[in-house]
Amino acid sequence: MQPNATLYLTADDAGLSRAADLLRAGKLVAFPTETVYGLGGDACNGEAVAAIYAAKGRPSFNPLIAHVASVQAAQRHVEWSDQAERLAAAFWPGPLTLVLPLKPDHGISSLVTAGLDTLAVRVPAHPAAQALLSAFDGPVAAPSANPSGRISPTTADHVRAGLDGRIGAVVDDGPCGVGLESTIIGLAGEPALLRPGGLAAEEVEAVLGQKLLHYQEGDALTAPGQLLSHYAPDASVRLNAGAPQGDEVLLGFGDMVCDLNLSPKGHLPEAAANFFAALHELDETGRPIAVAPIPDHGLGAAINDRLRRAAAPRGS
Ligand code: TXA
Ligand code: MG
Repeated sequence: MQPNATLYLTADDAGLSRAADLLRAGKLVAFPTETVYGLGGDACNGEAVAAIYAAKGRPSFNPLIAHVASVQAAQRHVEWSDQAERLAAAFWPGPLTLVLPLKPDHGISSLVTAGLDTLAVRVPAHPAAQALLSAFDGPVAAPSANPSGRISPTTADHVRAGLDGRIGAVVDDGPCGVGLESTIIGLAGEPALLRPGGLAAEEVEAVLGQKLLHYQEGDALTAPGQLLSHYAPDASVRLNAGAPQGDEVLLGFGDMVCDLNLSPKGHLPEAAANFFAALHELDETGRPIAVAPIPDHGLGAAINDRLRRAAAPRGS
């Protein structure tokens, strides 16, 4: 077998325990959920999460959904609420994702949340997903298991067509039942529909006893401060800096003198894993941020995309 060959595992005890071992080792495992196949990685391991972006060839960092086996497992990472309790009781396990405030010692990589202080969590209903999450016993970050810009996969063959040789394993358990991604409900503020999906918004409204606010995914850029807005530092950000000027703190990459280094050995997955935590840390200094040049390929392209948005002039 080639070193990069993707394993094809069946959804029996042996296959699922092998898949859980691969997740523990920081490898990527595609697995079926009732909505679509997910590309899973250990949500507490920044380099594993960076590998998800690399395998998908995603040109930017969007926050990912953390998949867990139970309500109790979700409560380890997020602040629970009465509304969360009611929706979870009605629809978990199932095609519903809840966005809730992170707990102080949540343990989740900041690459999963893209630096936000909220986390999207869901308990999938598919038996193979349930068994894998129980065997792994930790949160699994998983976007759909397709290359960026391609259609979401609802069979293991779809996953194979897009990602063969780029991920550790695929758990094959036939076609997905729902075939539409989960419905995402924001509960960090007023209950809001963040993405329509496999569960009708009306059903959520009936359980909550109120209407949902409606946001579209694209609102993030025009509505800073709303639930979907991406983390951006307060400080000004200057890119492609050779050396700090004035009061700037320098964020470095590769072998160089700087205040904080994303990856002294110039390793892009490591830089991606450290990226949001580094921005937060430098932002707390209250000083303007200068950033050394970062190679614009692979995960570097996603880092640069996020940096350009952080550096862009802010609207008032
Ligand atoms: O059905 C699904 O949900 C599939 C399967 C694999 O579970 N997963 C999925 O994940 O669709 P992904 O990564 O493609 O979708 C994540 C969505 C994005 O639209 C993202 O903006 C939103 O969740 N999201 C994640 N974290 C968020 C947060 N903290 N606040 C607001 N939106 C968030
Ligand atoms: Mg997707």
